[in-house]
Amino acid sequence: MFNDLSSPAALMATRRSGKARDLTAPGPDAAQLERILTAATRVPDHGKLAPWRFVVVPQDKRADFARLLQDAYAARAETVGRLAQEAVEQFAYQAPCLIVALSTPAHASHIPIWEQELSAGAACQNLAIAAHAEGFVANWLSGWAAYSDKVLAAFGGGRDARIAGFFFIGTPSRELDERPRPALDAVVTEWQGY
Ligand SMILES: Cc1cc2nc3c(=O)[nH]c(=O)nc-3n(C[C@H](O)[C@H](O)[C@H](O)COP(=O)(O)O)c2cc1C
Repeated sequence: MFNDLSSPAALMATRRSGKARDLTAPGPDAAQLERILTAATRVPDHGKLAPWRFVVVPQDKRADFARLLQDAYAARAETVGRLAQEAVEQFAYQAPCLIVALSTPAHASHIPIWEQELSAGAACQNLAIAAHAEGFVANWLSGWAAYSDKVLAAFGGGRDARIAGFFFIGTPSRELDERPRPALDAVVTEWQGY
């Protein structure tokens, strides 16, 4: 339907995830990464609070990330089996580019936390679409690590902050799966009035 990805409508209509473990080099270079992050910050933001942060985890810090995940996992599990340890390790090294997106609402603001969190979600979606626009594939993941206080603290999260997602970005090593999308009439209605 869309051969020319240069139109914004085509970009929106064709974005899809790849599996983080299937994402290989190349990833975004410095200029592409800056454009992706700039797009992520160009979102509706009630109160102009910028209630989100992005932490780029460079390749030379992946071993640190793996160690953090191992420590955080060990803190929550009584016994850590070899398979779990391998899975944690594998997570940390996936894809050439990793960005940790944080929702960082200002609790002292009169803007409801919920609205600030919605802005963080919008920032995340812009990030995913911008990665697609730059010719890459992204995978927005959470998992147990996104809910670990230890991991959150290591990424600078304070009061009310949450990890919105781990964004793995790269080039898919195999064809992407398409998944069924909801039929519009299942999710869109016309209001019948009051
Ligand atoms: C906040 C959030 C967290 C997610 N975490 C996971 C996850 O941990 N594992 C997973 O398989 N998919 C997760 N997903 C879903 C994928 O990011 C992705 O959207 C889906 O697998 C494929 O849909 P897509 O091709 O439209 O992106 C998450 C999505 C969101 C919005």
